[in-house]
Amino acid sequence: MDLARPVEPARAPGHDASDRTLPAWTYFDQEFFELERERIFMRSWQLVCHANDIPAAGDYHTFSLLGESAIVIRDESGALRAFHNVCRHRAARLLDGDRGRCERHITCPYHAWSYAFDGRLVGIPFKTQYPQIRDGDYGLVPIDCTVFLGFVFIRFTSGGVDLAEGVAPMEAEMRLYRIESLQPLGSVSARRCQTNWKNACDNYIDALHVRVAHRGLDSLVGNTYGMEVRTESVYRLWGSMEDLPRAGLSVRAYREVLPPVEFLPEQYRRMWLYYLLWPNLTFNLYPDQVEFLQFLPLSPVETLVRDAAYGYPDERPAMRTARALNLRINRRVGFEDKDLIERVQAGVTSSSFTEGVLGRNEVCLRAYAARMRATLPVSRLRTAPPRGTVAACNERMS
Ligand code: FES
Ligand SMILES: [Fe+2]
Repeated sequence: MDLARPVEPARAPGHDASDRTLPAWTYFDQEFFELERERIFMRSWQLVCHANDIPAAGDYHTFSLLGESAIVIRDESGALRAFHNVCRHRAARLLDGDRGRCERHITCPYHAWSYAFDGRLVGIPFKTQYPQIRDGDYGLVPIDCTVFLGFVFIRFTSGGVDLAEGVAPMEAEMRLYRIESLQPLGSVSARRCQTNWKNACDNYIDALHVRVAHRGLDSLVGNTYGMEVRTESVYRLWGSMEDLPRAGLSVRAYREVLPPVEFLPEQYRRMWLYYLLWPNLTFNLYPDQVEFLQFLPLSPVETLVRDAAYGYPDERPAMRTARALNLRINRRVGFEDKDLIERVQAGVTSSSFTEGVLGRNEVCLRAYAARMRATLPVSRLRTAPPRGTVAACNERMS
């Protein structure tokens, strides 16, 4: 296996832990999980959907994360808006389901307060009972919202790095795929995995398992699998298609039927390219389609894997077939990965296991662990601090 261009990861100050994984306790500890919620997830940009998932005024997507719920909706002027999915009257959740369309207003199912798509409170039944409410009061509470190449991101806690800064190292390459004009090939879907969210991320950037555990994927791109650390937050992996005798039916058919995508530079027409963006988002860039895959923590030991696929308009029968075959190959990869990350979760809680070992070429895993050690220094401790002290230890070590 050719692991191209190894890059030395950033190391936690004064502590050389780069040849070890994060300690096992950080994969199931409730207090550490609460730190992750506050310091990582509430402050990070999270992808909700593509702008083309909600093309018309009133189209919306919801997004839930660790007790928070958001709405992203297109307003009458065509702008995208994000709000907490919470009624200002008595806190009822406003919109249900992953997505939908509001006619004219967002209307609360409890007492029918209604809001314009730009968040203004525009209707209150029995309005005279609320003399304390003046015009302009009690609009929906906005959330930071930004768009990167057509993908809509939100952030529950303001402040911190601009999304543009974080994604800059992958922007030029992603632009090649004309991502802004992609259309959804289906809906955003989600499935639960019984594992800590970091196991899903670790697995995504673990190159060594492809040969062992993904026979289909390996027979397509495994011989050329490479990876690099672009920055402490952006990890890139790739493989180019080769004519390997060990390929199964779907892989062989995909390779044969995939038509050239004229707008892609030559070297990308037969490449599968992957990016992981700290902390929990990935983009899979195939010649025939683009997917995002997002690992959302539900609890220290449960993760929601959320994904969706997008394609540019291409009516060629060969492209339709290639997309279906890609789906078949990757559905299998998904099942295989689910098994692996649940298998690891079952092991990290064992009293026999304290931490794992990283190979020299596992540059992405090393950098990812270093990123976590820098973000939450308490994760440098090889065993959990006494109960009730994780947050205080983290402060002391910061
Ligand atoms: S809680 Fe929404 S209208 Fe009362
Ligand atoms: Fe995998």
